[in-house]
Formats: sequence, structure tokens, C-alpha cells
Amino acid sequence: MQTFKAFFTCLLMGGAICASCSKPISNTINVTPHPESVSVYSGSVDIAGASFKMDKSFGECAKTAVEAFEKNLASSSACMSGEGGTKVLVKMDKALEPEEYSIDAKCHKISIKASSDNGVLYALETLKQLLPVSIYTGNQCEDKWELPQMRISDKPRFGYRGLMIDVARHFFTVEEIKGYIDLMAIHKLNRLHWHLTDDQGWRIEIKKYPQLTEKSSIRQQTLVGHNRYSQEYDGTPYGEGMWYSQEQIKEVVEYAASKGISVVPEIDLPGHMVAALHCFPELGCTGGPYKVRERWGVADEVLCAGNEATYTFLEGVLEEVCELFPYEYLHIGGDECPKKNWEACEKCQAKIKELGLKDGEEFSAEHYLQSYVTKRISDFLAQKGKKIIGWDEIIEGEVPEGATVMSWRGVKGGVTASALGFDVIMAPQTHLYFDRYQSADTDNEPLAHGGCSPLDHVYGFEPISEDMTAEQEAHIIGVQANVWTEYILDNKHLEYMLLPRLAALSEIQWCQKGDKDWDRFILGTKKLYEIYDELGCNYATHNK
Ligand code: ACM
Ligand code: ZN
Repeated sequence: MQTFKAFFTCLLMGGAICASCSKPISNTINVTPHPESVSVYSGSVDIAGASFKMDKSFGECAKTAVEAFEKNLASSSACMSGEGGTKVLVKMDKALEPEEYSIDAKCHKISIKASSDNGVLYALETLKQLLPVSIYTGNQCEDKWELPQMRISDKPRFGYRGLMIDVARHFFTVEEIKGYIDLMAIHKLNRLHWHLTDDQGWRIEIKKYPQLTEKSSIRQQTLVGHNRYSQEYDGTPYGEGMWYSQEQIKEVVEYAASKGISVVPEIDLPGHMVAALHCFPELGCTGGPYKVRERWGVADEVLCAGNEATYTFLEGVLEEVCELFPYEYLHIGGDECPKKNWEACEKCQAKIKELGLKDGEEFSAEHYLQSYVTKRISDFLAQKGKKIIGWDEIIEGEVPEGATVMSWRGVKGGVTASALGFDVIMAPQTHLYFDRYQSADTDNEPLAHGGCSPLDHVYGFEPISEDMTAEQEAHIIGVQANVWTEYILDNKHLEYMLLPRLAALSEIQWCQKGDKDWDRFILGTKKLYEIYDELGCNYATHNK
């Protein structure tokens, strides 16, 4: 009798049978990253001109996103006469995890539940992928504004879901960076790692040291061709005005926050500092002179770790960086710091003696000197409430307490660091360096760093290795892809290197182990390509 009553009520309400009255017809939808639990029922919910109501307890970020969704929906469905009347309720549910959400769509009603703004954002991103692509722009009137009747309950596997963009080798404008933030939001990433300084250019304004953006942002010329074989230079200065003012940095941080994304700045030290040494040669072991580097690769010239002025400089820089980025993490690099100059430098050797550092079985006294630099900077940042992230070289010696290790030379560094009790972000170059070729047919690809990481190879990456203990697994807090831009000169090229590999990354970051499915993923990318087209993005089509 009850069932009959419900069935009858459903018919009265929607004309279609409501979800609660029927069995699911599918447990997948074309949404990337694919949600954790999906039940699709027969019938649909008309969302044209829907009215939204949300709990007041959500923040500005969720409110703005809901308003934008409602506005685009109104303009894109204004030309059609849907039944209307669907209500979208956005409710706070404290029982859900911070980034979790659920969607119930049935009988003229859509109910979204989340415990945080990010949860609401992710629910909206999921809904958008199920609607005509004009929902992203509000550009065009479409006539199919239906969602399947469905129940989705979803949350990410990893809390840190990052993408690193190198703006030092080639510069990307604020508008371009915002475009990448938009793409990250579509794929439910939540950390933009912004590589702001390197040997070939300094790109963040530091008011205490204006020389860094006036001079260290400019290299006199740039290598043409590949670093491995070319000796040809273009003879053209690069970098004039190519840096971010502190106002622009704040603008990007705010924009990213509105999309649920925190920005992690990187000031790479004590290596990868040749651009800074150009203005401050006294901070190098040899005293210079140093030119902002014109070719790629690893430079022997690094900051002198035995000179107190180095620490004064770094603290001056980091003091301002801390003010600009209101989040817990600050990336201090630590990669590729050759020890050659430290071995020959009186000041560095005096520091080694003063600290009583000795060669060990695995690492030299100079490695321990780098550990000293890392610890000193980590302590300085801890006073400002920040935690450091460092590339996996920071485990060569002693790792400061509370450091997070970003494993890039494969997963080995991450496995070791997690065994030592440190948090880890997996970003192995073997799978997640998007500056590598996307196809083995390299003649038909733009010049790239080397190596090959096609879409299926990226998709196949599993961050937790079989032999990790449960304790180690708990320390793997996230996954990130990196794009170094030595060979990526402009925005369209960068989009091409990122898309659709960003989609594969998003499933590694979001989907539970065992929930990835290549065939289902490829079906989902069909919708993503339409979205990329709607947004005017350039993307690779090898798997289209
Ligand atoms: C790196 O790729 N040098 C972290
Ligand atoms: Zn030195």
C-alpha cells in the first residue's frame, strides 16, 4: 500500500516516476573526476530557470558560486519554456567531511548537502558537467536543461590536490593564471603551487629588494632548441616587466580562494638562485659576477650557506612572501643544489666546522649543510605559522620536524620520507611531469623536456605502493602534477601540455583506489573536450 501511495504521489508530482520509487539504472555518469557513489534512476529533473535557496551559514565563496551558476543557468535557459518550478536547496550538513558533498535530484527538487564552501563548489562542478556547456559561460541559449534523477555522494581521496606552474622560465600573465585556476576548479584541484623564482628569472615583487624584479626578472637572451644539444641563443632579452606586483599576487590569491584553491608559493633555495645572485653577487660563494641564466639545466652557482647575509636576504624575502599568502604551506624548493662551490668555499667550510658537520655513510658534510639551511628557514617560517614543503632532496641529510616532502625523482623519496614519519606529496616525474611529451611520435609534438607521459600512462599512476605500511599511507597527503616551462613559451602551448592530462591527474587525486576505470574515464573526457572548446582552450587530441 505504501509503495503504491508513493508511486501515485510521484506521478502526480513529476509526470515521471520519481527516483525513490525505482531502482538505479546506472552507477556511472560522465563526470570527471568520477564521483565516489552514483545512482542514476530513470527519468529526469528539469532545471531550466530553477530557483536556488541556500543556508546562510555558507561563506561568500559558496554564495558567489551559487549565484554565478544561477545566473548562467537563467541566461542559457531563458529561450526555452521548461516546466520550471524546480527548486535547488543548498544545505549545511556538519556530518559531512570538509570537501564532501551529496546531490539528490528527483521530483522537481535538487538537494545539495555539504559541510563547507568547497563541498558546495564541487557539487556545482559535478552538476555543470551534466548540463549543456553554456553553463560555463552563459553564452548561448540551449534547450536541454535536464539532469538525470540521481543520487551522488562524493568526497576526495587526497586532501592536497595540486598543480605546479613554473612562471620563472616563461612568464604567464595574471589573466592566464586565472584561466588555469578555472581549469583546476573544473577538475576539483585545490592547490596551485606557483614556482615564482628560478635561475632564469625572478617574478615576484619584494619591496625590500626592488632589484629582484627590476633586474633579476630579465635574462639577456634565451637558448634556442634543447638544452642537451643546442648552443644557439636568440639574442633577445626576455622578462622586462614580466613579474607580479604584490597587488597582482593578492588578486590571484583572492581569485583562487573564490574557486576553493589555496596558492602555495615557491621560493626555490639555496640552489636555483642565479637570477637573485645577479643582483646580489656577494651572496654567492665566488662573489660572481653572475648573469641571469640563459640556458636550462642545473647551475653550480648557489647561495653561500656560510654567509650570514644569505639568511638576512632570505628572511627579508620570505617575510613579505608570508604576508601575501595566507595559507599554512610555503614551498622552499631545495632541489638540485650542487655542492661543488660549497666544497671550495672558505665561508661554507667554516660553517661546516662551526656546526660540527661530518661526512656520513650516505651523505656528505655539505648535504648536512643544506639540511642546516632548510632547518633554519623552516624555523624562521614556523615563527610565522608556516609549514615548509621541499623537493625530495631535503631528505638527503636531516629533515626538519613538520616538513612535507614533495617526491619528484620517482616515488622513492616519498616512500623514504613517509617511513621516517613525514607527510608526502607524490609528484613523480615519471608520470606527473606534464612538460614531458604526450606521444612517442615526438616529431609531431612541440619540443618538450624529454621523456614521454601519454594520457594512459599518467592515468595509471598509483600513489600508494603495495609495500607501504598503514602509517606510511596516512602520510601520503596528496598528489601533484608539475609543468616546467623551459620549452613552453606561451599560454596555448601550456594548455596543450596540461589538457587532458589534468583530467587524468584529477582522477588519481580524487577517486578512491580501485574506482578508476580507463574506459569510463575516456567516456567522461568527451564532455571535457566540449567544455575545453566552450572555454576556448587548446588541448591534445591523441585520445579523442
Ligand atoms: C625538479 O624537477 N627539479 C623539482
Ligand atoms: Zn659558500
